[in-house]
Amino acid sequence: MSILKNPADIEVGVVGIGLMGSSIIVCLLASGHRVKAIAPIGADFVNAKKRIKDQLINCDQAGLLPKTIPHCLDMLEISMDYNILANCGLVMECVIEDINIKKQVYKKITDVVAGNTIVSSNTSAIAITILQKLVAGPERFIGIHFAEPAYATRFLEITCGEVTDTNYANWVFALAHCWGKEPTLLRKDIKGFITNRLMYAVYREIFHLIDNGKTNMEDADKAFRYDVGSWITLMGLFRRIDYCGWEDHAVMFKKLFPQLSNAEYVPEVMGDIVAQNGRGIQNLNGLYTYSPREAKDWEEAFAVFNEEIFRLAASYPVSYSRKERILVSS
Ligand SMILES: NC(=O)c1ccc[n+]([C@@H]2O[C@H](COP(=O)([O-])OP(=O)(O)OC[C@H]3O[C@@H](n4cnc5c(N)ncnc54)[C@H](O)[C@@H]3O)[C@@H](O)[C@H]2O)c1
Repeated sequence: MSILKNPADIEVGVVGIGLMGSSIIVCLLASGHRVKAIAPIGADFVNAKKRIKDQLINCDQAGLLPKTIPHCLDMLEISMDYNILANCGLVMECVIEDINIKKQVYKKITDVVAGNTIVSSNTSAIAITILQKLVAGPERFIGIHFAEPAYATRFLEITCGEVTDTNYANWVFALAHCWGKEPTLLRKDIKGFITNRLMYAVYREIFHLIDNGKTNMEDADKAFRYDVGSWITLMGLFRRIDYCGWEDHAVMFKKLFPQLSNAEYVPEVMGDIVAQNGRGIQNLNGLYTYSPREAKDWEEAFAVFNEEIFRLAASYPVSYSRKERILVSS
């Protein structure tokens, strides 16, 4: 692939304008790309422009939109016709987590784009190696996994499948810095990528402690919020050990590893909630109880928190040093 150019010179396609597709479109517009958005079904098309405009307004109100909203809308084309993707250097698939639907979408994309156009998926759950088998020219296929809302989160996980050409992944990795991301690059895909594996290891252990009556979810949430939450965005995992000392950690590893859960079953309480169609905050049926007002308050609090943590993280970049911090905050 050629050396990186200005995002304004790179047309990016997004297929699927649901929750994530629309916030990804806003992230790309905010970064200066021209965006071609495909609504794969009629229902998507009807509301697409309004959905994106609402998200542009949110992005603007958060102070994260360097261009005007009319300018961004000028840079955007929305259609149900895949032919508008013809000049895209990168196309992101963002449709529902259904492998057969994704397969149909890949065919429609690769029928119209150039042979070296990168095709990616925002999938959270399907292995990139599996998806790339469905794509003509599988070596140009990668995972580009955003967090919601894409325009106000630093996280971005880029994942290669078994036959991905790493030149494509490196190109996206470099470009992702123009999207305000702190991207990670997984050179070989593993089930669950990095973040899911980390979080599910934590969930397994805490459900194990709760199931055994050792603690309760309120205390578990407090411990995670106010201990881990007080350092994780600054340090990540390994700088934390550098900071606290390897020797102590080595002692704890030795003592604790044999005590940790290896359970392979879904925790009972989770099975019960799923059986009762519990969808947490979405239908007020989860582990905690919510009134409709409380559910809305949590949604609003999360949106505000996302903006604040995005800004906070920006003033402590990955390779933090006093000099860089002064540069960022000046
Ligand atoms: N929601 C999140 O927080 C999140 C985070 C990371 C990754 N993801 C992943 O992003 C992808 C999209 O998730 P979302 O949350 O935006 O979902 P969504 O339900 O909001 O949107 C799904 C999109 O799929 C399209 N679609 C539905 N039926 C279709 C069909 N028959 N043919 C073609 N397209 C169809 C819809 O048009 C819609 O645009 C999924 O792979 C999901 O796992 C979601």
